[in-house]
Amino acid sequence: MEVVIRDNPEAMAKLAAELIAEVVRRKPKCVLGLATGSTPVVTYKELIRLHTQEGLDFSRVTSFNLDEYVSLPPEHDQSYHYFMHENLFKSININPKNTHVPDGMAKDIPAFCRWYEEQIVKAGGVDVQLLGIGSNGHIAFNEPGSSLGSRTRVKTLDEGTRQDNARFFKSMNEVPKYAITMGIGTIMDARQLILLANGAGKAEAIQKTCEGPITAIVPATVVQLHPKATIIVDKAAASKLSREYPAEPRVLVLQ
Ligand code: F6R
Repeated sequence: MEVVIRDNPEAMAKLAAELIAEVVRRKPKCVLGLATGSTPVVTYKELIRLHTQEGLDFSRVTSFNLDEYVSLPPEHDQSYHYFMHENLFKSININPKNTHVPDGMAKDIPAFCRWYEEQIVKAGGVDVQLLGIGSNGHIAFNEPGSSLGSRTRVKTLDEGTRQDNARFFKSMNEVPKYAITMGIGTIMDARQLILLANGAGKAEAIQKTCEGPITAIVPATVVQLHPKATIIVDKAAASKLSREYPAEPRVLVLQ
């Protein structure tokens, strides 16, 4: 695992998008694992720029998103289906048929979750998985206490997570209580991980993720076990780290 500190979210996004673009160029038929939330939006903007200005080709790419709220229809403006369409898919040449976001409206959620896992395997596994992190250390919607070996399933959202996400809804009552999420085991199966965090609100979670003991109470700490993980943070999110970290990621040199 390596930690890279950048001055601001734009510089973080440039590096994250470059790491993803490198995979797409090397393996045009690659599988991307995608995240939602405010953090990856700038990275998606940079990927769109690479597509429109530098011809980065997504035509053969397949994608799987981490999670989706249960019982929000895809056309709801806070659903992750809608988010992905607005923030990335509509602006690049990915084939909509090759994009996958968990179905929060599925009638049989356990059957859907099994199907989702099978589709990831059928596609050849995720080549690079983008991740954000919750202020409580969650990755995807694997809340504190989630099994480190978990697979795609339904999870009850923590009250803290619902409060963090209330900013996107009209009232707290509207914030969904459940989500379908890839499991931690599913995420760890990806060949490469890129975890992004910016802002002081993430500083404690990042300190624990990078320097703390591995524990299900801070799910993101499991990333320490991944053979190819890059954690990209801004100065505010890095403010509680106790060690010095190199300025340049080795992963770019080693690809
Ligand atoms: C979303 C997801 C979540 C977010 C996390 C941080 O797909 O997986 O784990 O990454 O809640 O959200 P933001 O980026 O809004 O702070």
